[in-house]
Amino acid sequence: MATLFSLLLLFSAFLGAQSTFKVTNNCGYTIWPGILSNAGLAPLTTTGFQLQPGETRVIEVPASWSGRLWARTLCTSDPTSGKFSCATGDCGSGTVECGGGGAAPPVSLVEFTLNGGGNNDFYDVSLVDGYNIALVVFPQGGSGPNCVPTGCIVELNGPCPEGLRVVTGGQTIACKSACEAFSDPRYCCSGAYGNPNTCGPTSYSLFFKNACPRAYSYAYDDATSTFTCASGTAQYLLSFCPNSSSLRSSGGNNPEAAGVPLINDTMIFSDGSQSTHYFPNCFFKIFFSVFLVLSWLTTHV
Ligand SMILES: *[C@@H]1O[C@H](CO)[C@@H](O)[C@H](O)[C@H]1NC(C)=O
Ligand SMILES: *[C@@H]1O[C@H](CO)[C@@H](O)[C@H](O)[C@H]1NC(C)=O
Repeated sequence: MATLFSLLLLFSAFLGAQSTFKVTNNCGYTIWPGILSNAGLAPLTTTGFQLQPGETRVIEVPASWSGRLWARTLCTSDPTSGKFSCATGDCGSGTVECGGGGAAPPVSLVEFTLNGGGNNDFYDVSLVDGYNIALVVFPQGGSGPNCVPTGCIVELNGPCPEGLRVVTGGQTIACKSACEAFSDPRYCCSGAYGNPNTCGPTSYSLFFKNACPRAYSYAYDDATSTFTCASGTAQYLLSFCPNSSSLRSSGGNNPEAAGVPLINDTMIFSDGSQSTHYFPNCFFKIFFSVFLVLSWLTTHV
């Protein structure tokens, strides 16, 4: 009887012992997500995979898993050696699976501690190691007042400050943290700046924070950047290059939910463009061409 009972307990523990990550690629290009379990934990069923535009992969995760996920971009296999490598987020494994390798910065990171303190899942999106891609964690069906989407919807490679850019072939492919770019203790929150009282936001960290108010922008940015769902209540959708209009309509930007908006509607980049006006230049070109044709017609016909 006792064995039957413990078997039942084990079985129910097993049933409740899974969380699910749904990883979606909304980008117009292929990405290669990477996953690193925290030290001492077994790797997940995959540690790296390819995701085509529009593709979704579902990953079962043990209830008490902790670790990080990211996306690698601009990956290729060397035609002679077969070695796989990526221009951003590379994990050094030489293969699509990361096999315990972490992401090379600059990289946008998703961090999870499932079933942490107070029976909560903790999650955040961190730009402390810089930025390479827009992403949002979207808890589905979770409970708790702080169980809301977090991430960075804005494309930040284009507006990345001059000193932080990673440029390849004339294109900015990632945006460094000031710590990585300048190795200054003030930016790295190290040395004399190694505690929350001495290390605060800087103009560089504010570039990331203003664009993505819920993402970590420097090491001690905890107050507005950590989110929780009651353990076992949520599945997590990780969307790379998320569609901001679909997030707005789904209530993902509900400011009351966490005190901080997911999207900064009043954000103005230093070039004077507004983040909410992300229409491609071609719209203006088309508009202007139509205008030219019309004015030609009115004067010549
Ligand atoms: C984004 O989402 C909106 C609303 O759900 C939809 O109408 C639009 O087609 C989507 N755009 C893209 C590029 O997927
Ligand atoms: C939005 O961005 C502006 C700067 O463009 C900044 O002053 C403001 O604090 C930001 N709002 C949030 C909620 O981060």
